[in-house]
Amino acid sequence: MVGVDQVLEKLSTVIDPDLKKDIVSMGMIKDLELNSGDLKFTLELTTPACPFNAEIEEDVRKVIGEISDIKNFDMSITAKVMEGRSLDADTGMATVKNIIGVASGKGGVGKSTVSLNLALALSTTGAKVGLLDADIYGPTIPLMLGMKDGSMEVVDNKLQPADSHGIKVVSFGFFAQENQQAAIYRGPIISGILKQFLVDTNWSNLDYLIVDLPPGTGDIPLTLAQTIPITGILVVTTPQEVASNVAVKAVGMFNKLNVPIIGVVENMSHFICSKCDEKHYIFGEGGAKKISEQFNIPFIGEIPLHSSIMSGSDTGKPIILTDPNSVSSEAFRSSAKNLAAQCSIIAAKLQEEIVAEAPSSSTPAN
Ligand SMILES: Nc1ncnc2c1ncn2[C@@H]1O[C@H](COP(=O)(O)OP(=O)(O)OP(=O)(O)O)[C@@H](O)[C@H]1O
Ligand SMILES: [Mg+2]
Repeated sequence: MVGVDQVLEKLSTVIDPDLKKDIVSMGMIKDLELNSGDLKFTLELTTPACPFNAEIEEDVRKVIGEISDIKNFDMSITAKVMEGRSLDADTGMATVKNIIGVASGKGGVGKSTVSLNLALALSTTGAKVGLLDADIYGPTIPLMLGMKDGSMEVVDNKLQPADSHGIKVVSFGFFAQENQQAAIYRGPIISGILKQFLVDTNWSNLDYLIVDLPPGTGDIPLTLAQTIPITGILVVTTPQEVASNVAVKAVGMFNKLNVPIIGVVENMSHFICSKCDEKHYIFGEGGAKKISEQFNIPFIGEIPLHSSIMSGSDTGKPIILTDPNSVSSEAFRSSAKNLAAQCSIIAAKLQEEIVAEAPSSSTPAN
């Protein structure tokens, strides 16, 4: 009769395509029970948004199917997002597993649009998601969510984020009157506001906090990079921006600060003709892919230029919610999955570093 060791041996032939490791050594098999040919376990995936979840599940079923002694097989599937940032050094945000800054070299490339639609796309996979509008000079997220009159309460000295379509949102735009004065604030005040939004907010448990940054490499991106450990930066470009090399400057700044670049997404990458459904790369093709190759940064995806993306943002009805079956929404979902996968890869590396740094003679826990 087959034993637990043989089952685990079989399961360890299943490799997570992102992490390039087998699912047994990654600790993805939980609560395994084997009784006279009845096998039961939980497969714990690294994120509900992994692009390969279905493939891993299928591979598991296949290898278990190859064990002749298994009569009944019962598999539950869950996902537990990995911590993509060091939580030791940081007391304020220990309940937030991943923090992703969304940055660009120049303005108007679609950071806020991409941040919002990616946050919503991640949330629809079942992940717990927050969105921090860190564009204190020109907050746009409330309008994009149709939350003109949104407000944030303070309870026990902590800001309570607003809830919108299942995600937790904080924006300077909720402070309507002060907002009008934001443009006159200077560096240290701006940095202070951002720190408060990060650390003094009751985010509760989040798998991903997306931080929509203002353009360029000013005080706010710098403060984010230096205040707390973050998973990394998602760079948004457009084909025009790539042509003018501005995106490269943003990548350079974060590299200097030792903040990982999670990947690059190209927005307004191509136009889809409504008559022929063909992609037209009116501004040139493959710009973000070039950046990705040049700097060895993962390519996260390309988002089409589409009027419904713009009208969705402008009317407070994000396209991913109003037209989930559109090509544009599919592009956001696919990018969200690639983003989550890259966060898992960063998390796995971090885990390896923690294990490698741990003293080998440590006393076993009892
Ligand atoms: N893929 C797209 N297709 C069509 N319109 C888009 C797309 N992405 C963004 N837009 C539009 O472009 C404009 C700028 O987008 P957005 O505000 O998201 O950019 P941003 O990078 O956040 O700007 P800023 O640098 O000012 O913060 C908005 O009107 C938005 O609706
Ligand atoms: Mg913006």
